[in-house]
Amino acid sequence: MFGLTKEYSDYYSSVAKSFRTVFSQYIDAFVIIGSGLSESYSQFEIVEKIPYSAVDGFPKIGVAGHLGEFVLCKVNTKNILFFSGRVHFYEGRKLTDLLIVPALAAYLGVKDILVTNAAGGLNHSFEVSDIMLIEDLMSFMFLSVDQLFRVVIPANAGISYAAVEMDSGIHINNKKNGFTPIHIRGNLRNEINHDLLHRMKDNLIQRKQHFRCGTLLSVQGPNYETPAEIRMYSKIADAIGMSTVPELIFGSRLGLRQLGVSIITNKLNPIKPDFLSHEEVVIAGKNANRALSELFSGYSEII
Ligand code: HPA
Repeated sequence: MFGLTKEYSDYYSSVAKSFRTVFSQYIDAFVIIGSGLSESYSQFEIVEKIPYSAVDGFPKIGVAGHLGEFVLCKVNTKNILFFSGRVHFYEGRKLTDLLIVPALAAYLGVKDILVTNAAGGLNHSFEVSDIMLIEDLMSFMFLSVDQLFRVVIPANAGISYAAVEMDSGIHINNKKNGFTPIHIRGNLRNEINHDLLHRMKDNLIQRKQHFRCGTLLSVQGPNYETPAEIRMYSKIADAIGMSTVPELIFGSRLGLRQLGVSIITNKLNPIKPDFLSHEEVVIAGKNANRALSELFSGYSEII
């Protein structure tokens, strides 16, 4: 399915099947929660909370600050499933593990996904605990779209993703019309859905919620940046993190409607480099939880 090799297709569909034995409810959207941000959804009514280990084949979590549980919440009128904890490339994980959430969304027919992450602020005007709507992406993870797709499209298929017009095979679980197929072009730049992004901005403005906008650059990590790297990266991006870009690239090729938000957990200054610890990132993330829960509330109104 979705042009994936049988191996990957079998893997993702078996995880999706196991997931459905655990969650039978209709789900409007998936939200991936980054480091230290697990309190951001705690004000919402929790419908169900289940450890990742309850779903056969779902990757285990290995980093502090990530809980490793699915939390289904009622956010206004929407059922939103929060993935509290993610796997990272720097843990040496497989691409299939890294891409599990967008893959699961596609296999389950969940159309909307919001990806969050903790990020360093490269833009000098950003402050710790700011939230930044991701307007554009840049990958220094050296996982290009081609590479991500080489994993899933058989090498002998004789096609280049950029030239392909795909019937995505994705059937959107639309409450009004039942299951409807959607078609995507492989070469569309739709990592972020710009219509939704505009509505998210309007919504936050109406809520008088302070927010930033900018470009997220993703690197492999896990080391934080040297002064020379900070000088270079500040010229090309507003925030830097170690995740999110692969999920957004992959999810867009699966036809998902996506938004992303970075939480600024530290400022990157080449003159006065911080000796940043993972614990500090987690603490700064916690301080952004109120702004983030406001954003989730707005998100439930615009999807
Ligand atoms: N650099 C890279 N990733 C990060 C940072 C950073 O400064 N802070 C949080 N994630």
